[in-house]
Amino acid sequence: MNLAILGMGTVGCGVVEVLSMNKSKITGLIGEDVTISHVFVNNIHKERDVDLKDAKLTDNIEDLYGADDIDAVIEVMGGMEDTRDILKKFLEKGIHVISANKDMLAKYIDELTEVANAHDARLLYEASVAGGIPILHAIEHGLNANEIHKVMGILNGTTNYILSKMTNDGWDYEKALKESQEKGYAEADPTNDVGGFDAQRKIVLLSRLAYDRKVDIEEVPVTGISNVELKDIETAKKEGLILKLVGKSEFDGQGLSVEVAPVFLPADHQLSSVAYEKNAVYVNGNAVGETMFYGPGAGGPETASAIVSDLINCWRNAGRKQFNLTPQQTASVKPSQSSNKYFIRFNAAEADVKAHLAGLNVEYSVVDADSGTTVVTSPIDPEQLEKLKQNREYRIESIYQVEGD
Ligand code: HSE
Repeated sequence: MNLAILGMGTVGCGVVEVLSMNKSKITGLIGEDVTISHVFVNNIHKERDVDLKDAKLTDNIEDLYGADDIDAVIEVMGGMEDTRDILKKFLEKGIHVISANKDMLAKYIDELTEVANAHDARLLYEASVAGGIPILHAIEHGLNANEIHKVMGILNGTTNYILSKMTNDGWDYEKALKESQEKGYAEADPTNDVGGFDAQRKIVLLSRLAYDRKVDIEEVPVTGISNVELKDIETAKKEGLILKLVGKSEFDGQGLSVEVAPVFLPADHQLSSVAYEKNAVYVNGNAVGETMFYGPGAGGPETASAIVSDLINCWRNAGRKQFNLTPQQTASVKPSQSSNKYFIRFNAAEADVKAHLAGLNVEYSVVDADSGTTVVTSPIDPEQLEKLKQNREYRIESIYQVEGD
């Protein structure tokens, strides 16, 4: 089997490493040798730590279009419309495509799936969500006897690494971000990680698969962690609360409520112990009940584990028609109507905050009054929350949802 790899960064090198590390097992499962025949990169002269001597290295994608011996393409180069168009060309030739590109897929997966199905090609993308955790396979195959109503998880290794370092080791945000970049967890531009957009793309892909509905990414609200302050993490920690960037979606058969935001979780919550670059995904199915999947959310060989597994599975399923799931309906995204507890830091004296909250009939406990006043409220509904935010005499410095009753 001849394989073309588009992109040779952390994950591309991880793919080469895994193919070599487990060569005999992979050959046995596929039924023939896997040869990396073509590699497309921006810079063919860059030093890389992997052996590509059997591959034709090129910076011209036309070289690959012209080749007639490519059986599958692995795309780990990123990019949006250009990459979509490149992948379409391969799918149109019936060549299977495996992509880790959540940014592009969250927007164009329906379009690419149609092309793939029309040409009996497979489009697999396990590595695009939660790195090495085989969560897409689990939802599509292992849980397909269920109606799924809720999916939630820690879906970004970089932000989980930063928040864990701040919580467990008292690091400041910048230092933790720098180290997560050095470890290769962050995207080339970490704005997508810390801004929550990476997790937003992943919850879109998970929701589409779990509920068999198209999901418009533009409708999914997102709050990142770039404004998180260490003092809030430390105040909350004393109250047994841990901050996590959580992607959450719930579907009632009609409307979809979905959001990415930093949320305080009780220390004994299943997701609280998911630390550093690890990810976890919770799926609730109507037959199986609660399930949890845990593992590395980023990293070269870890992500490559999912990619090479897709390669093996697509080859073993060769010949199946209309392989790729194609939702026909679009989910309408609606704001959540649930009541929630909130952690709020006001830049106001305790007496003023107490008067304000009493006027709104909100119950709360004061958790810090040293610099401004920080409270944790009892559950309040979206209308009460809006009113609470409307006070113009003082600012709300920070506000986070607190998970749990
Ligand atoms: N930058 C991503 C993360 C890589 O930190 O989770 C895996 O998608």
